[in-house]
Amino acid sequence: MIMEEAIPPVFKKRFQVLLDDEYDHFIESINQPPAHFIRINSLKINIESGLHRLEELNISATPLPWYSAGFRVSGNYKQLPFTREYSLGYYYIQEGGSMLPPLALNPKPHHLVLDLCAAPGSKTTQLAQMMNNQGAIIANDRVFRRITSLGHNLQLCGVINTLVLCEDGRHLSTRIPHKFDRVLIDAPCTASGHLRSKPHQFSIKDFQRIKGIQTLQKGLITSGFRLLKPGGHLVYSTCSLHPEENEAVIHHLLSHSPDAGIVHPNVPGLKSHPGLTHWEDTQYHETLHDCLRVYPHENNTDSFFIALIRKEN
Ligand SMILES: C[S@@+](CC[C@H](N)C(=O)[O-])C[C@H]1O[C@@H](n2cnc3c(N)ncnc32)[C@H](O)[C@@H]1O
Repeated sequence: MIMEEAIPPVFKKRFQVLLDDEYDHFIESINQPPAHFIRINSLKINIESGLHRLEELNISATPLPWYSAGFRVSGNYKQLPFTREYSLGYYYIQEGGSMLPPLALNPKPHHLVLDLCAAPGSKTTQLAQMMNNQGAIIANDRVFRRITSLGHNLQLCGVINTLVLCEDGRHLSTRIPHKFDRVLIDAPCTASGHLRSKPHQFSIKDFQRIKGIQTLQKGLITSGFRLLKPGGHLVYSTCSLHPEENEAVIHHLLSHSPDAGIVHPNVPGLKSHPGLTHWEDTQYHETLHDCLRVYPHENNTDSFFIALIRKEN
């Protein structure tokens, strides 16, 4: 739990500007204990049987309005990681907001998909589930020690359509000849949107890191966009609230790539705010309005930013 007084003034001021008259609701919601979520892994068990098993474990599951395989859990949920069902890969423990970027990307079973920053694999395993283990996914992450958990999660979930790479995503476009139907960039970020679930991660040092991380994020989106087929779609997501890591990065891509266009993601049942078209003294492209800002007080999840981009030719 984080108390309002613990929020450094520089954050507080920008959250007040970002949230405007919803600021009090926002603070109230981040002071609530975090909700807990799972995804029933339909590669291993159908949803109905998965729900039945949960019932037997005395875990109540409430469906998420935006995803038929996603559930908010309560009751005996703390035992989930220790159950036979978990070790059989029937459930994947995944924050509700983290299920949104793959939904916005909407991969089809015949697609070739790139997950540029994939470890530990929450979204890769969800993509594989959405593709019914068909087509192909390349799951990449730069950090070798995180590749181990990625491999473990792919195996646990029974994913067989995925190849793992350990490369710097900024240079991948010069390393592989393929072009992809779908690219997911779940970018490294300051994680300021995890205020509720991981308040210990929240520090003023993050604010000082924003500029450096933005340079990395711009490099990743430029490379990911290069790897996209004409007509293909890219999702850029972060769990940060800061416009410098979100709208500014998309604005950078649009300013350098005339063939990039923003599409409004279709995620029925989700409550969201539009992306910002200006921040402080900077004016962004008007189309940034079609990005999604997801806040905890509206969906009982962590915060997320999601941009869906189409390559025109
Ligand atoms: C937000 S996490 C990804 C979480 C993952 N998508 C999931 O859902 O489980 C960001 C990831 O980016 C990786 N990363 C950082 N710099 C990178 C780079 N230059 N190229 C590729 N991956 C990078 C980090 O190691 C980290 O695993």
